[in-house]
Parts: sequence; structure tokens; C-alpha cells
Amino acid sequence: MAGGFVSQTPGVRNYNYKLTPKVFITCFIGAFGGLIFGYDLGISGGVTSMEPFLEEFFPHVYKKMKSAHENEYCRFDSELLTLFTSSLYLAALVSSLFASTITRIFGRKWSMFLGGFTFFVGSAFNGFAQNIAMLLIGRILLGFGVGFANQSVPVYLSEMAPPNLRGAFNNGFQVAIIFGIVVATIINYFTAQMKGNIGWRISLGLACVPAMMIMIGALILPDTPNSLIERGFAEEAKEMLRSLRGTDEVEEEFQDLIDASEESKQVKHPWKNILLPRYRPQLIMTCSIPFFQQLTGINVITFYAPVLFQTLGFGSKASLLSAMVTGIIELLCTFVAVFTVDRFGRRVLFLQGGIQMLISQIAIGAMIGVKFGTVGTGNIGKTDANVIVALICIYVAGFAWSWGPLGWLVPSEISPLEIRSAAQAINVAVNMFFTFLVAQLFLTMLCHMKFGLFFFFAVFVLIMTIFIYLMLPETKNVPIEEMNRVWKAHWFWGRFIPDEAVGVSAAELQQKAV
Ligand code: BGC
Repeated sequence: MAGGFVSQTPGVRNYNYKLTPKVFITCFIGAFGGLIFGYDLGISGGVTSMEPFLEEFFPHVYKKMKSAHENEYCRFDSELLTLFTSSLYLAALVSSLFASTITRIFGRKWSMFLGGFTFFVGSAFNGFAQNIAMLLIGRILLGFGVGFANQSVPVYLSEMAPPNLRGAFNNGFQVAIIFGIVVATIINYFTAQMKGNIGWRISLGLACVPAMMIMIGALILPDTPNSLIERGFAEEAKEMLRSLRGTDEVEEEFQDLIDASEESKQVKHPWKNILLPRYRPQLIMTCSIPFFQQLTGINVITFYAPVLFQTLGFGSKASLLSAMVTGIIELLCTFVAVFTVDRFGRRVLFLQGGIQMLISQIAIGAMIGVKFGTVGTGNIGKTDANVIVALICIYVAGFAWSWGPLGWLVPSEISPLEIRSAAQAINVAVNMFFTFLVAQLFLTMLCHMKFGLFFFFAVFVLIMTIFIYLMLPETKNVPIEEMNRVWKAHWFWGRFIPDEAVGVSAAELQQKAV
């Protein structure tokens, strides 16, 4: 861990704290919040490729899948089946908007607890589902849980983390998400081999385990110093800061928190404020980063890897195994971001990861196109199928150290305090909306666009990589309070930031520009 890292960026305040066991354990438990999101992301795709599950709830898809003459690209195309997967994200979108108020008024831990609780109830509905209605109600409850957790956990981690390790700690959320995905795919691999209806019930029902972990975790976790100050417990906040940082010398950081809290109390309408021209760069980034993250096409792999592998002609078991392998690769590669994000910076990871994803997507599309053509019939040989799996792994690795973790980190660190809450809510809501859209449309798009679907996402990856190159300034090791200077120094965004927002001459800033 980059515990002793000292920033070289001019103007950076360096509190230079050690990494204490308390902050590590607290953040470790706090990150459990990512597990429920990840477990769900990983479990749905596997379950929707299990035959007993399809036979029970989606008999027409089951029949189509069994039909030897069906077009390969359209084997799984069903609005109802995709609604099962994607309904969760609409529910998460709605609840993330409420969650920000609960997080602010009652503290971060109660939002986390509520997230765990609704997720727990949702897992019971799903595990014992007797009909589609029970399945969908369960999904919606799981969605509420995810919305609450995604709203509160990243905030919790960032506020607990020593400022010089914000990037790495924030990425802990993404590590937990992917860990949840991997555990889910491993569980699916075993439950898929069980006879009858028991397999999918275990897969869906076991969501209660991460739910209980976050519920118990939330009960024993302390609240963040920021939240304590916000709710009028300044003395407790100072004590908390001392024990988290492992030193009595916390006066400077404490004062910063008090100042930030005072400032934020003066802003009555963050939702109106964010529309002002001076916040244009943050508003555009807060909308475009989650949008682009989903348009990388990653969730085609996350949700539908097993279905995709079956489309490629793999057996059900081999498909789940391949999904497991891609998940493990994603987990390992996410650590690359954890260890480099505060050192190499956000831009290098975004650009490198983008180029890697672009090349692999074009190669995947071309190979599938050559094998299945536009007619969508044919067989793919074992070697070719393995090459496609390898290309998918290269694509996933690129995402894992770029758009995956940075898609959550960057929007959370670019906004000044007076609009941060609104910006964070927009980030989660846009992310959930496009997660929903991709989940809902993927199988239909695969059916109609065929291998062209991979080129479709490749075009977006090209656009977003150019966008980052031109539009995103480097934010590594810049304290959030100093972020206006970064925008002011940018060739395009500079014009939106008034001089008084930075307090130094523009010429001076241009010189320092990264
Ligand atoms: C994204 C999810 C994605 C997950 C795993 C997250 O950062 O927001 O949509 O499923 O990473 O790849």
C-alpha cells in the first residue's frame, strides 16, 4: 500500500498520516457494501442460463433455446428475461436519490444498514419465488438495497480514508464489487450442476449472506468524522479522527472538515447550483463518465458472459467456467488500479485501458462475424472459441484498471463541496440508468446487430478515449478543495471557472497545467 506516498503536486496539502489498523479494518468492513452489488451482478447471468430456471419461469425462452434451427444470435432474446435482470437497476436508480438524504441526516451507517436489510428481504423473495411476480418483487427490493449501498459506501470509504490514500481506498469499493461477482459465478458453477429447481434457488437465496455481512458490519461500524460534524457532534468527530489517524495531531484536518461543513450548510440548493455555468465541467463529467462506463459494454460480459459463451457454442458448464475465469482476471487486474492510481494518475489508466478495450472488441467482433456471419448459423471450433475467450479476458483486464474503478472514483472527487451531494446522486443515477438500458437491450441488440454489437461498443470506447484525452485533467493527489485550480488551468474548461474561484492568475495556472 502506498502508505508513505508524498505528493509532488504544488499546493497539495499533505497530512502524511500512517495507515492505522483501525482505518484499515473499518474500510475493509465498509467495503462489504460493494459485495451485494457485485453478488447480484454476477449471479443473474448464470441463473438466466440455467435450464430448470428458464423452464420454470420463461418456458418460451427455454423452447427457443432448445430449438436446433434457431438463429444463434437470437436464442435468448426475450424482453421478460431481460426485465428480470434489469428491473433491479431502475429500483437502484430511484433509491439512490432517497439514499443521499438518509445518508446526510442519519449518518452513512444507517443507509448502509438499510441497504443490507432490503437486500436481505429481496434475497428471500427470490430464493423462495413461486412465480414471476415474486421474482420481480425480489429484484426490486435487491435494487433498493444496491441503491442505498452504492450511495453511502463510496462516501463512507472516502471520508474514512487518509486524504493521501483516497484513490486506493475508493477503489476498495470496486474490488468488493468484483469479489462479489467472482463468488457469485463460482456458486453458479456448482449450483448449475444440481438437478431440478434447487440450484437457482440456492444461487438467488445466498444473496442473504452478503446482505447479513453489510447489516452486521453497519451496526458495528463507527460513523465518519464528517458525518458526526454535520450532525452536531464535533467533539466525538475529533476523537474519531484521532483514533483513525493514530495521532493527536489532527487539528488541521479537523479544521478543514469544520470549514467544509460550514460552507456546505450555506448552500441551500445544490441541485440548482450545479446548473450554473461555473459548474459546467463537473456537471458534464458527472453525466458523461458513468454514461461512458456503461457504454464500454462491460455489462454485456458481466451479465451475459455465460449466455454469450453458450451462443458461441460452449456447453452450459463450460460457459459458467469461462465466466468464472473472466471474473477472476477482472478481480486481479482491479488491484493494478489500486496500486497505481495515486502514482501514475487517472489519465494514464483511462487511456491505456481504453486502447486495450478498443483493440480487443474489434477483434472479438471480427472473429464472431467471420464464424457466424450475418445469418447467425454455424459452428465455432474449439480453438477459435478459446481465442475469443482470451480476447474477452484482455478486454476485461483493460476495463478492470481503467473505467471500472475510475468510473466511481473520478466523479466523486472532481466537485467542490457545495455541489458534491447533487453530483454524486447524478453519478449513481446515470450509472444505474445506463446499466438498466444495456441490460435490457443487450439480448435484443445481439439478435438484431449480431456481431456488429461489438463494433457498436468499440465506437463508443474510441469516442470516450478521445474525450478523456482532450477533456479530463489529471486529478491525482489534488485535494478536493483545490480542484477548481485544475479546471481553471484546462484549455477548454478554464473559461467556465471565474477567477475568484481560484484566487491566482490564469497565466500562473496555465504554467502549472498538467
Ligand atoms: C460498474 C458495473 C460493472 C462492474 C463490474 C462497476 O464499476 O459500475 O456496471 O458491472 O464494475 O465490471
